[in-house]
Amino acid sequence: MNITAIQADITTLDVDAIVNAANTSLLGGGGVDGAIHRAAGPELLKACRALGGCPTGDAKLTEGFKLPARYVIHTVGPVWHGGARGEAELLASCYQRSLALAESVGARSVAFPSISTGIYRYPIEEAARIAVSAVSKTLKQGSTVETVTFCCFSAKDLAVYEAALVN
Ligand code: AR6
Repeated sequence: MNITAIQADITTLDVDAIVNAANTSLLGGGGVDGAIHRAAGPELLKACRALGGCPTGDAKLTEGFKLPARYVIHTVGPVWHGGARGEAELLASCYQRSLALAESVGARSVAFPSISTGIYRYPIEEAARIAVSAVSKTLKQGSTVETVTFCCFSAKDLAVYEAALVN
């Protein structure tokens, strides 16, 4: 089990599956979602249209099309409303459900963006703790997934994930 954090554009990663921080429509958006759709090409939107949306805390799978990654796992993180609306459980569920889907196709390497900490305003220190704990717990239970990479967009975000990984 190998869990690390790097600073990169997730669309460039040559892993079995990258995770997209999507919205319930699964029809694209800004942030990492926009970047993934641009890099994967229009086939991705077509595939997403067939999925009929996705509830918050859940995940759905498509191919990666033009991406180096074979699959995209689209998950919907919670919008931050102060923490009393089940945000922590929903965020943990995004990581668990994404890894379950990765396992269902035998993926061995998976990269996650920092789900919910952009447009959805989840405080990153807390989100990083939840991400690390949900991923380690899931992998400890046994999975085809051997390598998980937290793909941070900025150096500042990377420092937060690195701190969460040592604690
Ligand atoms: N590679 C890796 N990380 C990235 C990239 C990239 N190319 N681009 C942005 N990030 P956000 P959310 C980081 O806002 O908060 C969309 O409109 C970004 O810096 O993409 O879950 C969806 O459709 C931040 O650290 O996702 C939803 O409507 C992290 O990715 C909504 O945004 C997540 O930020 C979801 O909001």
